[in-house]
Amino acid sequence: MGELDGQVAIVTGGARGQGRSHAVTLAEAGADIVVCDIAAQIDSVAYPLAADEDLAETVRLVGKTGRRCIAVTADVRSREQVDAVAERAISEFGRIDILLANAGIASNATVARMPEQMWQDMIDVNLTGTFHSIRAVLPHMLERGYGRIVATASIAGRMGLPRSAHYAAAKWGVLGLVKSVAGEMGGNGITANAVLPAGVQTPMVMNPAMYRELLPQIENPTHEQAMEMFEAGGGLIQPEEISKMIMLLVTDTGARFNGETFTVTSGLSANLP
Ligand SMILES: NC(=O)c1ccc[n+]([C@@H]2O[C@H](COP(=O)([O-])OP(=O)(O)OC[C@H]3O[C@@H](n4cnc5c(N)ncnc54)[C@H](O)[C@@H]3O)[C@@H](O)[C@H]2O)c1
Repeated sequence: MGELDGQVAIVTGGARGQGRSHAVTLAEAGADIVVCDIAAQIDSVAYPLAADEDLAETVRLVGKTGRRCIAVTADVRSREQVDAVAERAISEFGRIDILLANAGIASNATVARMPEQMWQDMIDVNLTGTFHSIRAVLPHMLERGYGRIVATASIAGRMGLPRSAHYAAAKWGVLGLVKSVAGEMGGNGITANAVLPAGVQTPMVMNPAMYRELLPQIENPTHEQAMEMFEAGGGLIQPEEISKMIMLLVTDTGARFNGETFTVTSGLSANLP
């Protein structure tokens, strides 16, 4: 018996990284999964976003657990496309118990030099995309009187982040959104919470553009140099470690968590209010 037997979860941005890990972890606990991902590029992002093959790999890995998995190509910037993901979950599996609003992008520029489009893409994906995802599942969850919503924010939602003001602003916004939904849903059997990881070892971080961003003093930093830097800072968190926090929030253990914001930072939080 798994803790999530018979349940259905939607994972946005589930083609790889944390979303893939969450999809597999929830499936191991018994849930059927609908993953969606843009599986295409956004021009203001300097590293490759996921591709169709990544989505297919998540489907394969979930399939290995014995649970069912459907992949839908959808851009969380589009309300229609995200609504279609929720409709597909209901038409195929008959219910939605869990939403993991995880899709996100990163990019870097100072506010003084930030192109308008870079700001807009960030807000559209990381904040409005989270709104679209929550909005798409709530009517169904309200009808059934049950739902577990977890948005992936970031420790950047607790601090300013030079050269990533748009990212920090979007993630602070996600916390305001989640807490407001939690307040609206109290007493309806629906909870909404956020996880706030520090650096996680996923393709968002493990790419040459991010290495150049984090090691500007080196002309073309290598993977090894980047790993040395991460280790010196306490090491990166593994996606599976974030999945464990997600499990806490979507299973019965988490029934009393609502409107909470859980940091997972290997100690960075010690220096934050
Ligand atoms: N990696 C980190 O250090 C870190 C730290 C804190 C928070 N986060 C957050 O964690 C979440 C997951 O990121 P990750 O670390 O797994 O990175 P990732 O780049 O591996 O995964 C993000 C996924 O989201 C997808 N995506 C991007 N834009 C989309 C859109 N418009 N519609 C649908 N899908 C889209 C990407 O294709 C990708 O598959 C993000 O919200 C990110 O901001 C990451």
